[in-house]
Amino acid sequence: MVATILSNPIKDQFPALDQMVSGHPLAYLDSAATTQRPVAVLEAMEAFYRHDNSNVHRGIHSLSVRATDHYDDARRQIARFVNASVPEEIVFTKGCTEAVNLVAQAWGRQNLTQGDVIAVSEMDHHSNIVPWQVIAEATGASIEPISVTQKGELDISSLRAVLATGKVKLVAFKHVCNAIGTVNPVSEVAELVSTHGATTLVDGAQALAHIDVDVQALGVDFYAMAGHKVYGPMGIGALFARKELLEAMAPYQVGGGMIQKVTLTSTTYAPVPEKFEPGTPNVPGAIGFAAALDWLSDSGKQRLWNLESELAHQARERLQSINGLRVIGSARETAPIVSFVMEDAHPHDIGTVMDSEGVAIRAGHHCCQPLMDRMGVGSTARASFAAYSTQEDVDALIRGAERVVEIFGGKC
Ligand code: ALA
Repeated sequence: MVATILSNPIKDQFPALDQMVSGHPLAYLDSAATTQRPVAVLEAMEAFYRHDNSNVHRGIHSLSVRATDHYDDARRQIARFVNASVPEEIVFTKGCTEAVNLVAQAWGRQNLTQGDVIAVSEMDHHSNIVPWQVIAEATGASIEPISVTQKGELDISSLRAVLATGKVKLVAFKHVCNAIGTVNPVSEVAELVSTHGATTLVDGAQALAHIDVDVQALGVDFYAMAGHKVYGPMGIGALFARKELLEAMAPYQVGGGMIQKVTLTSTTYAPVPEKFEPGTPNVPGAIGFAAALDWLSDSGKQRLWNLESELAHQARERLQSINGLRVIGSARETAPIVSFVMEDAHPHDIGTVMDSEGVAIRAGHHCCQPLMDRMGVGSTARASFAAYSTQEDVDALIRGAERVVEIFGGKC
């Protein structure tokens, strides 16, 4: 296993990884915050700007037709990647956060009222908590938590108890936990939720790069995605929504490009998905996002998952053996994300020392303050792996952690 990991030719396809930081070769272990982009994605976006740059769905000239074709193809590719039944079930957004806000505002305003409950997991990212708080306040609905166990897994008995009240209209949770790596049993939860007549929204930001996502097999109603977490560009994401839900929803934002007929006093809207995409869309972003998914499929997702998982497993084991260091979360199934704390060093100190060794990690609450509270920590240091990660990255991480111990003591 180690022999295959030692040479990871995929890394050569990522120009940003070929650099020195603080006099060391960069060990980029912050892919949960954002992945790097392969040449294939950079070239696809550059080709659009160099050759096809034009607005979409608005012109009849050749460039506009080409741009529109590329944009529509990108939607089809994303639909195929997550096995949506038709491309119209994919709405382009700025990212996951906008996808959740779209559902909260467009679906929530129509479907939530006084006395209704929105169940949100304690593990969720702020972007899948705050939009629900805002719509709860606007509609009179309330938020009920789905608890998380000390291992960092969803407590399904707590979900059952909340559902048993008969008041739950929507359950929001994430597929993979960005802070501690837990992989949640999405199909099991979605089935439970649907037997109680409620709707499911899954934040898929951290899953798409690692796990096969089949929205039909998972049985979800809404699934939010971010391009930059899956080797694509920033500023682009997508919402999968079952078509009948999307068709019944009023628009989220309004303007040009999403209308059928406008008079000074009234408007009729375009069919889905255009109804949810006002203004000039992020065409190069959509092209880059689709190119990233193509790249990932062509590179062999299962093989990459095996490699990332093996490296994360090694990192977890080796970190745990360091005196004064505690790994946070011990879920049965995890994505390649390892979060840890050291008693005598704040995660920001750990991050700073790591950077001086050329190791890029994230330190903080990872936009998961309720989860940090649950796990009894204020923040953690987090190493997250991706397709281009190598054995050298793990070795550099361990050297960095040992350096933190040398500097700060690190008694636990
Ligand atoms: N949600 C991103 C992270 O976990 C930014 O780092």
